Amino acid sequence: MRPAYGVVHATASGRVPPLDGNPMAMQPTEGRGAWSGKLGFVLAAAGSAIGLGNIWRFPYMASEGGGGAFVFVYLLCVMGIGVPVLFAELAIGRATERNPVGAFKKLAPGTMWPALGGMGVAAGFGILAFYSVIAGWTVGYLWMALTGAFGPGVDAAASGALFGSFIGSPGPAIGLSALFLIITAVVVRGGISGGIEKASKILMPVLLGVLIILLIRAVTLPGGMDGVNYLLRPQLSELTPQVVVLALGQALFSMSLGMGAMITYGSYFPKDISLPFAGTAVALADMCIALLAGLIIFPALFSAGMDPQGGPGLVFVVLPTVFAQMPLGGFFAILFFASLSIAALTSTISLMEVVVAYLVDERGWARKKAATIIALACFVLAVPSALSQGAVGWLSSMPVFNQSFLDVQNILWGNYGLSIGAILITLFVGFKWGTPKMLEWIELGGNRLPGREFFAFMVKYVCPLAIAVVLVFIAVTGQYF
Ligand code: PFF
Repeated sequence: MRPAYGVVHATASGRVPPLDGNPMAMQPTEGRGAWSGKLGFVLAAAGSAIGLGNIWRFPYMASEGGGGAFVFVYLLCVMGIGVPVLFAELAIGRATERNPVGAFKKLAPGTMWPALGGMGVAAGFGILAFYSVIAGWTVGYLWMALTGAFGPGVDAAASGALFGSFIGSPGPAIGLSALFLIITAVVVRGGISGGIEKASKILMPVLLGVLIILLIRAVTLPGGMDGVNYLLRPQLSELTPQVVVLALGQALFSMSLGMGAMITYGSYFPKDISLPFAGTAVALADMCIALLAGLIIFPALFSAGMDPQGGPGLVFVVLPTVFAQMPLGGFFAILFFASLSIAALTSTISLMEVVVAYLVDERGWARKKAATIIALACFVLAVPSALSQGAVGWLSSMPVFNQSFLDVQNILWGNYGLSIGAILITLFVGFKWGTPKMLEWIELGGNRLPGREFFAFMVKYVCPLAIAVVLVFIAVTGQYF
C-alpha cells in the first residue's frame, strides 16, 4: 500500500500549511511542525545522537574496553545493530507522524504495544533527569576553564580533589542542572523548525569546528600518536564478553536508540527527502564524533605520560591535568568544555522532545506548557541525582545495586530501559508490523536503502537476539554499561 500522506513542510513559524486538499494528508501533521529539509533533520538528529555519550562516555568506555579492541567491536555494533535499529525507529516515526505512544497506537491499535511507547517516554524523562546533572557539570567546568582554574599547578591529586568537591557541592550541582533544564525547555518551547532545528544548525557546526581544532592540537603533541595507536589498533587479547556488552550498550546510548527519540525525530521528517541518506548521515556523524573525541583525549593523555584508565572521571579529572601541562592549555580547556556543553544540550533537547511530543499529540497540551512542566518535573528527579555524588550520604550509596542514585538511574533507564526498548521495537517491526512495511517507509520517494534485505534480516532476528544476550549478561553479572 502506498503511504497516504502528502509532502508537508513547516513554515518559518513552525506551522504546517495545507499543501493538498486530502484530509488524510493534513490530519496527522497539522500543527506538529516538521524539519525544514534534509539538513535540518540530519543536524537535529545528529545533535540528539552526539552528546555526552560521544565525548564523555565513549573515551572512558574505550579505556575500560582496552582501547582498540573496544573500538573495533563498537564499530561492528554500530553497523550491525545500531544502524538497523535506527532505521526501524525512523521508519515507525515517518509512517505514523506521532510520538512513541501514538505511533504504536496507530500501527497496533487495541494492543499492548503502545505501552512500549510509554516506556520510551518514561525512559526519556528518566534519562533527562540524570543526564542534565552531568550536563550541568560540563557547564561548571566550562566556567572553571573560563576563570582559569586549570592552571599549571593542577596535578592529578588536585584535579581529583577539585572534581570530588565540585560534584559533591549541592548548590552548583543542583543549580547547574536547573540551568541546563531551563535552556533545554526554552529551545523545545520554540518547536521543531523554529527551536530545535535552529539551535542545532548553529550548535552542531560550532561543535565540529571546536573538535577539529582540538584534534589538530592533540595529534600534534609530542607522543600523541601513541594515543592514536591505542585507540585504533585492536589488541585481540583484550576482546572479552564484557567488551562486547560495553560496546553494544555504548552504540545504543550513543545513537539515542531504544526509547523512541528517533521515532519522534522521524515523525517530523518531510516526505520528500531521502531517509536512507539522512539516516546514514546521522549514524556516520555520531560514529565520527565519538572517534574524534577519542582522537583528542587519548593523544593528549599519552603525550602527558598518563594512564588511559580513569573511569567516568577521565574527562573531568584527567583532562584538566593534561590541559595544565599543555601550551595554551587554558584556551583549549575552554574549547573542550564548551563543546561538551553544546553536545549535551542538543541531546537533552531530544530527550525532552520525546516527552513533550507525547503530551502534545496524545494529551492535547500546548507545546510551551508541556516543555515548562516537564522541565520542572524533571528537575524534581534531578535533585536526588545531583545530591548523590557525595552531598547526601544515603543517596550516594543506595541499597539497590550498591550505587549512587545517579548511577541507579543510569542502570534503570540507560541500561535496562534502552536495551529492553530496543529489543521490543525490533520485535515489533520484525513480527508485528513487518519488515516490508519498514522498508517501504524508509524508501518512500523511491530512495533505495542499500543492503535492504540485510537490514531487514538484522532487524528481525539478529538485533533482538544480540541485545537480549547482552541484557541477560548484565542482569546475571551485574556488570553494567
Ligand atoms: N545519544 C545521547 C548521547 O550520546 O549523549 C544520549 C541520548 C539522547 C540517549 C537521547 C537517548 C536519547 F533518547
